[in-house]
Amino acid sequence: MYRKDRQNEFYTTLAKKEGYPARSVYKLKEIDEKYKIIREGNRVLDLGCAPGSWLLYISQKVGEKGKAIGVDIEEIKIPQKANIVFIKRSVFDLKESDFKDKFEAVVSDLSSKTSGVKFLDAGKSLELAEKAFEIAKSVLLPGGNFVCKIFQSELSDEFFKKVKNCFDFAKKIRPKAVIKKSKEFYIIGRGFTHQNPAPSREEAGLGGFRT
Ligand SMILES: C[S@@+](CC[C@H](N)C(=O)[O-])C[C@H]1O[C@@H](n2cnc3c(N)ncnc32)[C@H](O)[C@@H]1O
Repeated sequence: MYRKDRQNEFYTTLAKKEGYPARSVYKLKEIDEKYKIIREGNRVLDLGCAPGSWLLYISQKVGEKGKAIGVDIEEIKIPQKANIVFIKRSVFDLKESDFKDKFEAVVSDLSSKTSGVKFLDAGKSLELAEKAFEIAKSVLLPGGNFVCKIFQSELSDEFFKKVKNCFDFAKKIRPKAVIKKSKEFYIIGRGFTHQNPAPSREEAGLGGFRT
């Protein structure tokens, strides 16, 4: 058996044993353990949440005083819990008014079926990541955290720069549970600063130094 298959099977078996419907939970768990994205009592928005592994992990982490709100076009397959709210809808049809309170964290594992055509898959992934980022900017509390899946491409570098501009700290990470052949990685933003800082004169194309 190839190494990647063994790694794949390890996380799939573990997920089944621990009661999660998908192995992807170990990606969020690794990110969260390293970068402290989610805390007890938080309100967390999970975009592209089906079948529900991340949502279940978030609900356990935030506890009964927190809320885990998931959005997907597909149904979730996890037990109903008092602190979980599921919205069955496309992220492109969400409105700011859908959420009356802001969030301490927004996480996105959004992805659509891959076609195998590299530039098409990268383009679709960027579109979903851009949407997740737009939603995050409108619903995150200052100081909030963001996690977003995206496929590696020249476009993903530009996207990373945009995220970095809006957070105190940003990082790219490829968790161990990502299968070897996949192009996916995750962008983490910690400490939402609410707005892009004003561009420098050089960035604005004016040259010279700021006085
Ligand atoms: C990799 S799965 C997420 C797995 C999930 N994090 C878990 O742990 O169970 C990606 C999800 O994104 C969802 N998705 C793709 N496009 C979407 C859209 N426009 N709006 C909402 N969800 C979407 C898919 O339906 C799919 O369930």
